[in-house]
Amino acid sequence: MRVTLINWNDSFSVNVAELDDQHKTLIGLINDLNDAMRQGKGRDVLGRILNDLSVYTATHFRAEERYFALYKYPDTFNHRLEHMAFARKVADCNDAFANGSMPLTTEVLKLLSDWWRHHILESDRQYSQFFRENGLI
Ligand SMILES: [Fe+2]
Repeated sequence: MRVTLINWNDSFSVNVAELDDQHKTLIGLINDLNDAMRQGKGRDVLGRILNDLSVYTATHFRAEERYFALYKYPDTFNHRLEHMAFARKVADCNDAFANGSMPLTTEVLKLLSDWWRHHILESDRQYSQFFRENGLI
């Protein structure tokens, strides 16, 4: 039976459909990894998850930062630092995987769940609130 770690609900929304869709993609990756791990197959899906994650970070961060530029978001600098730090960690995991030193699936899952909790549910909410307060969305 498939076990879902995170279920999307509307309280997660940043009120920009393009960005919400991308956040849903990330939830999908977290749930896929968690589900595979519970079946003892985490290592089988890790390569695919890490590859999808690097595509995700490149596409999604570019999209968010385009909105920041468009709407002159004042906290862009700090937000971008968080993006860069996460993208670096994802790149490190991909490098390790490519070199045959498999990152632990539990560590990757923790990286993603921490990112979900601390970045998407905190930092991303701040830009959403700024966009809303300024009548931009
Ligand atoms: Fe972000």
